[in-house]
Amino acid sequence: MILENKRTVVTGAASGIGAGTARAFAREGARVAVLDRDVNGAAKVAGELAEPPAGPHLAGEVDVASPESIDAAFAEVDAAFGGVDVLVNCAGVRGTGSPLEATLEEWRFVIDVNLTGSFYCAQLAARRMAEAGTGGSIVNIASTAGILAVNQRTAYCASKAGVIGLTKSLALDLGELGIRVNAICPGLTRTGLTAPYYEDAGWVEQVESDIPLRRSGQPADLAEAITFLASDHSAYVTGVSIPVDGGMSATRPLGGGGTAFSAKRAA
Ligand SMILES: NC(=O)c1ccc[n+]([C@@H]2O[C@H](COP(=O)([O-])OP(=O)(O)OC[C@H]3O[C@@H](n4cnc5c(N)ncnc54)[C@H](O)[C@@H]3O)[C@@H](O)[C@H]2O)c1
Repeated sequence: MILENKRTVVTGAASGIGAGTARAFAREGARVAVLDRDVNGAAKVAGELAEPPAGPHLAGEVDVASPESIDAAFAEVDAAFGGVDVLVNCAGVRGTGSPLEATLEEWRFVIDVNLTGSFYCAQLAARRMAEAGTGGSIVNIASTAGILAVNQRTAYCASKAGVIGLTKSLALDLGELGIRVNAICPGLTRTGLTAPYYEDAGWVEQVESDIPLRRSGQPADLAEAITFLASDHSAYVTGVSIPVDGGMSATRPLGGGGTAFSAKRAA
């Protein structure tokens, strides 16, 4: 088991990629703080995890758009685990619509959750890792939309490009403390976030036929890469943002001029 005795924190862990990550971490022997704004969902996921020898998991409420809520969640983690070895910033929201019509409120909502929330959780985790002097691993969840533009997703693309920059910057400043910071960039992955897309079978077939591996991602695909980055198997890896997208970003932009993705732009 490659995460034995690691004290891990996963935000957005009630659903999708975060829930898949919590399951993978528990299978690898970690204690997991399953945090989400959906506290019932977090409790359900945590309740399904096998308990590791190091002690029970934790289910907690966090709204990563609220610094006070993040402070309270980390205080709960401190009380339960006594420290943090791994943080996964998985809480995220999408936002769609024309940049001509987007309001600042809509913009701030996406930036606050996806970017500012990731920064503040990383800061609190890194302070604990620095104080303990044992290093640690922080894994951010960016997106192929942080590498390539997807139309009608201005704030989302900006937030995910920001996460890629945040990852590099934190890796540079925290490396001397033994704290590694990396990200994954999921492509189209079947989760709660993308559930509306899957109501249109024709669209899914068209998009999947453009993905080199000819299928959407599943949360478990992403959880495997996150587990690698969380573990000592990636001990010499920091500052990278790895596409885990079936090859999607190796081909061409996701949105724009007549692609299937652009047809879903307002979805
Ligand atoms: N699914 C995809 O195709 C895809 C592609 C690229 C990137 N991503 C990213 O992956 C991450 C996980 O998304 P997912 O697809 O698993 O979606 P999901 O909707 O299944 O899960 C997201 C979780 O985050 C939680 N959350 C949302 N806002 C929160 C907040 N303010 N505070 C705390 N928790 C909050 C939700 O309650 C939910 O449990 C997101 O950052 C998303 O942008 C997903």
